[in-house]
Amino acid sequence: MLVNATEMLNKAREGKYAVGHFNINNLEWAKSILLTAQELNSPVILGVSEGAGKYMGGFKVVADMVKALVEEQNITVPVALHLDHGTYDGCYKCIKAGFSSIMFDGSHFPIDENVEKTKELINVAHAMGMSIEAEVGAIGGEEDGVVAAGECADPNECKMIADLGVDFLAAGIGNIHGKYPANWAGLSFDTLASVKDAVGDMPLVLHGGTGIPEDQIKKAISLGVCKINVNTECQLAFAAAVREYIEAGKDLEGKGFDPRKLLAPGVEAIKQTVRDKIALFGSAGKA
Ligand code: 13P
Repeated sequence: MLVNATEMLNKAREGKYAVGHFNINNLEWAKSILLTAQELNSPVILGVSEGAGKYMGGFKVVADMVKALVEEQNITVPVALHLDHGTYDGCYKCIKAGFSSIMFDGSHFPIDENVEKTKELINVAHAMGMSIEAEVGAIGGEEDGVVAAGECADPNECKMIADLGVDFLAAGIGNIHGKYPANWAGLSFDTLASVKDAVGDMPLVLHGGTGIPEDQIKKAISLGVCKINVNTECQLAFAAAVREYIEAGKDLEGKGFDPRKLLAPGVEAIKQTVRDKIALFGSAGKA
């Protein structure tokens, strides 16, 4: 059974650790992440972008696949299935498809419109027992064609959204999706501290988890970050491992072309990445 992410993130806030949100792209991703969370007895959030949902055949396909995996693979740790950077319409689709959590990303709207739409979606999500994340101050980089600079959120705007009753909040603190450029200035801990002061006990979300140095991750957690989103790092690890297999000519040996063999090194690489992140975020043993 899927759970919403509210309780696991409130526990993380109290316990001063973070729960990993790992984006999924297909069956291999979903299964590897679930099995690794179970192995480490950690709560976990599976994130699905609108593009990945479309790629997998639609949100209902994703919801049914994840629910069936949880059941058939005997996953007993808390698992939330969460829409990542949802549009207004995408949120309604995921509510209908059986997700347990949504993110409404209204960060590109003027703040009044972000407030209005977020408020409506909070009411709908909560009536369905789902959790909801909102965003203030766009995250930099490119995701599903949306490009933004590494913005820092305005703490007053964060308070406006937090006061609506959202369950957790993504606030831009100079973070970027994808690989960080060599001249990246790092996370703005001043912004994070001001946001925390403005919103109080609200669990905070750090997007763009790929490539943030470990000391900055730990400091962010100590300042109230309870959910860390990781996508690109699993993709890079998967691609490198599969490339190594093919470059070594292993797909040409015997039945090495069988997708179960061809993708196995990639699956192992995703598992190792997730293991390392769960250890770094401190959520092992917290299920
Ligand atoms: P990365 O791709 O940089 O890990 O970011 C993931 C993310 O924030 C998804 O919302």
